Amino acid sequence: MVREHRKFVIPEIITGDNARIYAGRYTSNFHSDTVLLATDESVFRRKWMREVLLSLDEAGTEYVIFSDIEENPRDYNVMAGADVYLSEECTGILAIGGGSVLDCAKGIGIVAANGGNILDYIGVDLVRNPMPPLICVPTTAGSGADVSQYAVIRNTAKKTKNIIVSKSLVPDVSLLDTVPLMTQPGDVTVNSGIDALTHAIEAYVSNGASHFSDMLALESIKLSADIFPFSLDRADDPDHRFQSLMASMYAGIAFSNAGLGLIHAMSHAIGGMYDLPHGIASSIVMRSAIQYNYSSSKRKYRKIAHILGVSPDITDDKRVVTGMFEQIMDMRGSIDNPLSLSVYGASKADIPDLVARSAGDPCIATNPRIPGRKDLSNLFESVF
Ligand SMILES: [Fe+2]
Repeated sequence: MVREHRKFVIPEIITGDNARIYAGRYTSNFHSDTVLLATDESVFRRKWMREVLLSLDEAGTEYVIFSDIEENPRDYNVMAGADVYLSEECTGILAIGGGSVLDCAKGIGIVAANGGNILDYIGVDLVRNPMPPLICVPTTAGSGADVSQYAVIRNTAKKTKNIIVSKSLVPDVSLLDTVPLMTQPGDVTVNSGIDALTHAIEAYVSNGASHFSDMLALESIKLSADIFPFSLDRADDPDHRFQSLMASMYAGIAFSNAGLGLIHAMSHAIGGMYDLPHGIASSIVMRSAIQYNYSSSKRKYRKIAHILGVSPDITDDKRVVTGMFEQIMDMRGSIDNPLSLSVYGASKADIPDLVARSAGDPCIATNPRIPGRKDLSNLFESVF
């Protein structure tokens, strides 16, 4: 057997209750006298933010707040943030928020260190200069942006979601704190959790997978299977929150190093065109994408299905896929976003454009089965 070359990058990570209080220690370690505090208004108003600001104060670190960040962060959000970063002479970034805030913060770091427009860096390994020091405190458990070398930025003019992949985007340190997750609304918790589960599944079946990423992906799927049916009921349970953070981290490290696949390629296309939340877009395409991929990675999909609760006695392939999908949908609990694209204002006339977008998405390269244009067209057709 040939053991192919694999490389792994992960940030420094601190986990546990109140891990956010180390923010000041790290700004000090990084000699960041003034940080850009990238966040959103509602997050900034949370009570637990007080300890973060106190830690900055104790470290003698000034901060400039930048909160003009939308869901599916826009190119102009990044450029506005980079302007603030440069005009305020910041020397580091502290990003506190969900995946959108963290991705936008990464974009700001790229432009601050490299100039130009954020859209110049769309693609793989196009970021030349290292980013300023980046400290992340995720407030949702799902995106994996806090540990990954990925950022997704929306091109507003073209209405596309574009991926930037670069080792430079791996945060310097991530503070994985249970407390900020306790105040998340239920639907955010569930959609973020579905995103984490999707990352783990796609990393596990990826053609860039390795022992290292498989181990993390499987553990992530196990944790998700364990906690998910109770997500809404146990939103204020710290053990549950901590497990969801770990599931997200393991999945994030797995996909950052192994790559993603068809679900994300299709979901980025849909999310860009209709500006849909990422978790919903992924849920819409998940069943069709898994059905398409199944034959190319049967053993691994069966293993996922069993972890998620599909009986090992079920051997019929169709029933395994259906069972797996039903288990995942059950995990969404009472969250009931419709899973048909037509509900969100989509038209079948958009399919050629959706096909072109997903075919050009870097996530396709690591899918276990490479779809042709006709396959992609059929896949999008099936989610209307
Ligand atoms: Fe995702």
